[in-house]
Amino acid sequence: MKETFEEIEWKLKKFGQEHLLNGYSQLEEAKQKRLLEQLKKIDYSLINSLYEGTKKSKDLSNSVIEPIQFFDKYKLNGQYKEFEAIGEKAIKEGKLAVVTMAGGQGTRLGHKGPKGTFDIGLDSHKPLFELLRDTIKEAEKKYNVIIPWFIMTSRENNDETISFFEKNKFFGYEKDKTIFFFQQGELPMIDTEGKILIGEDGLVKEAADGHGGIFESLVRNKMTDEMRRMGIEWAFIGGVDNCLAQMVDPVFLGIAIDKNVAAVGKSIIKANPQEKVGVFCKKDGKPYVIEYSEISQELAEKTDENGELVFGESHILCNLFSLDAIERMGQKPLPYHSAFKKATYIDKDGNKVEPTSPNAYKFEAFLFDAFGELDDMIVLRGKREEEFAPCKNATGVDSPETARELYKNYHNLK
Ligand code: UTP
Repeated sequence: MKETFEEIEWKLKKFGQEHLLNGYSQLEEAKQKRLLEQLKKIDYSLINSLYEGTKKSKDLSNSVIEPIQFFDKYKLNGQYKEFEAIGEKAIKEGKLAVVTMAGGQGTRLGHKGPKGTFDIGLDSHKPLFELLRDTIKEAEKKYNVIIPWFIMTSRENNDETISFFEKNKFFGYEKDKTIFFFQQGELPMIDTEGKILIGEDGLVKEAADGHGGIFESLVRNKMTDEMRRMGIEWAFIGGVDNCLAQMVDPVFLGIAIDKNVAAVGKSIIKANPQEKVGVFCKKDGKPYVIEYSEISQELAEKTDENGELVFGESHILCNLFSLDAIERMGQKPLPYHSAFKKATYIDKDGNKVEPTSPNAYKFEAFLFDAFGELDDMIVLRGKREEEFAPCKNATGVDSPETARELYKNYHNLK
């Protein structure tokens, strides 16, 4: 143990992170152990390079941004039926799984507890998880098959998520047989000097590594092995907060199989040039999602001869990946992006610091960075009113109120 401790100390000194052991002697034994485990696991070179990255701003000026070709689900003509039949066959053969990313913090919504447990205010008071479950259940009935459900949680919300499902008898699923929970990865938070933070519990302050951690986390937690064992070939991967997500769409799956691609991204038409959504495009010839904060006003407003936005295919975090692609993507992490956040921490002298403005960097990978790594993906445009009712903010745009109305309209509820 002593040797290991010394090795860690040496490593921390080498990377200028020796402050991390300042409070070690005051910790109880179990926490000491946990802290050492954390310190052993950290990739300090990665942290250094992420810190260097925070000093650079993302620059797309040297990249060629072009519109992406897409299929419109409702303009496929005769092929609609063809794709639908191919997709239906694969669903009935049990080749599709649903993966829900539910590890986010839901800061904007401000709900205490996992976002999936949030009640959007329907008369039924069904929380988001149950609304998603209803969609899957309906498909199971239609296709007479069990569609396994994989749910990604975070360290922070894992226990609460599982006990919510336990209380609800897993909505008819069987834990570890047809429903699976797995935790996403984390990365330490750092201050503006690149120093890793210690949280109030005396341990390294870590934060979830973003929805782009999904691939690595599916592989690390052996969920992909489960999928293989069950004969699954495709996974729909979506967020927890879109209660209209069409997770089992035979046309979506059929087009992927027919075109023999690694992934299909669902898009909807951007409501207006200012809407705060990323849009599918091509960056230097590869599929990419350009975020609303990155796109120039000129590109955002550009229209074609029919008056449609040229960069108007909104990415709604509803994507389908082949299991092969997931396994491939899961071998190494996607690039990390930094976000400047407020983080309470314990300083090197042992004092608690509660900042009133952002003071620390959090690092997140974005799922859509995977698109550029795939050789072949296609975009399928669906209809907003059938596919997208996000619940992101406490009030206003994309709030429980808007999500509820969209959900009610789609399901013909009063
Ligand atoms: P968002 O980017 O909307 O983040 O996630 P969020 O955590 O839900 O909400 P804010 O930004 O804190 O207000 C989109 C989807 O990706 C999942 C979320 O749970 C949501 O379903 N996600 C996000 C993860 O699973 N892990 C993450 O680290 C981040």
